[in-house]
Amino acid sequence: MSHTLDTYRLLGRSGLRVSPLALGAATFGTEWGWGAEQDEARKLFDLYVERGGNFIDTAGTYTNGTSERLLGRFARDRRESLVLATKYTTLRRPGDPNSGGPHRKSLFASVEASLRQLNTDYLDLLYLHVWDFTTPVEEILRGMDDLVRQGKVLYVAISNAPAWQVSRMQAIADLRGWSPLVALEIEYNLIERAGERDLIPMAREMGLGVIPYSPLAGGVLTGKYSRADLTATPTGTDDGTRKRFNLGVGAVTARALEIAEVVKEVATELGRTPAQVGLAWTLRNPGVTAPIIGARTPAQLEDNLGALEVDFTARQLARLDEAGAIRLGFPHDMLASDRMRAETRGDLKIEARQ
Ligand SMILES: NC(=O)c1ccc[n+]([C@@H]2O[C@H](COP(=O)([O-])OP(=O)(O)OC[C@H]3O[C@@H](n4cnc5c(N)ncnc54)[C@H](OP(=O)(O)O)[C@@H]3O)[C@@H](O)[C@H]2O)c1
Repeated sequence: MSHTLDTYRLLGRSGLRVSPLALGAATFGTEWGWGAEQDEARKLFDLYVERGGNFIDTAGTYTNGTSERLLGRFARDRRESLVLATKYTTLRRPGDPNSGGPHRKSLFASVEASLRQLNTDYLDLLYLHVWDFTTPVEEILRGMDDLVRQGKVLYVAISNAPAWQVSRMQAIADLRGWSPLVALEIEYNLIERAGERDLIPMAREMGLGVIPYSPLAGGVLTGKYSRADLTATPTGTDDGTRKRFNLGVGAVTARALEIAEVVKEVATELGRTPAQVGLAWTLRNPGVTAPIIGARTPAQLEDNLGALEVDFTARQLARLDEAGAIRLGFPHDMLASDRMRAETRGDLKIEARQ
């Protein structure tokens, strides 16, 4: 088990070596009402890199482009040793339909914009950010492959898409000899575990490394929210934290607070912080390659990096698993039932595939 940022993991079915915790750069810039000013963002970057971190996550439209611009500035002296991941598809110009979306025109223009903003001549990893249920996937995959052949992008990946479509895309890429998708970025944490139904097993089968975002559910798992927040309205001015945003998107629910409470109890037992326990649960998960840390201040980042030192007992792990467990539903429940096992496998003994 990795306990340092420079104990690397391989990204999906590729040879690329990435740190077991990525650094999220959505907090670089304050344009979204929460985040870090340039000097503070620089400290986040320096701290992460000094500890051996090499994997940084941004997107062309994060903080209206400031995230990429700051990251490009900070990364200049060590560009070659970093794995810079960015994303395309969200609208770059509101009202201009082709300034976003997964199609070829948006893909090529977005990559050029990201190269300029990041002040680099190649992107290590390019994600399709949000699936639109519209663009033919051959158009996307062929466009991505063209960019790889041009040397502007080294690896391609996908975020926020249904498992059936990602699986289909990977099969098409494999059969056509196009660049395969090497990573799947999804929301995954103790509160949001829908990925366990199909996305995570699919990623493992199809060779995509799972990169969880919002590993602390936007901060809810740090224990900083209480029952009073269940009825609070997201009004007033931004205080620079995620609170108004979290309340606005309904991230603070009774179920979420109950799970956060269990995280707090396990943290007390371990002499750790809830943030470290919440992050460590994703980090130690065998289906996961590298969760993305979201930190607004150096103190939060320092705290979160402590997750690398957390190991759970089997009992603690079972408690956490149980607190956030979801019903997998059909066909998973049916296929796992004793009756179905007996009907399909009888008393056959088959060793699990590695
Ligand atoms: N692909 C996608 O669609 C997508 C979507 C979302 C995020 N992402 C990526 O994933 C990264 C991480 O996501 P996230 O920001 O949602 O992660 P997160 O870890 O779930 O939430 C981060 C927020 O939690 C609070 N926090 C973090 N560490 C803390 C600590 N130790 N103590 C107290 N509070 C703490 C901070 O909020 P306060 O401001 O309230 O202190 C911080 O902004 C982003 O930077 C981005 O790169 C990708």
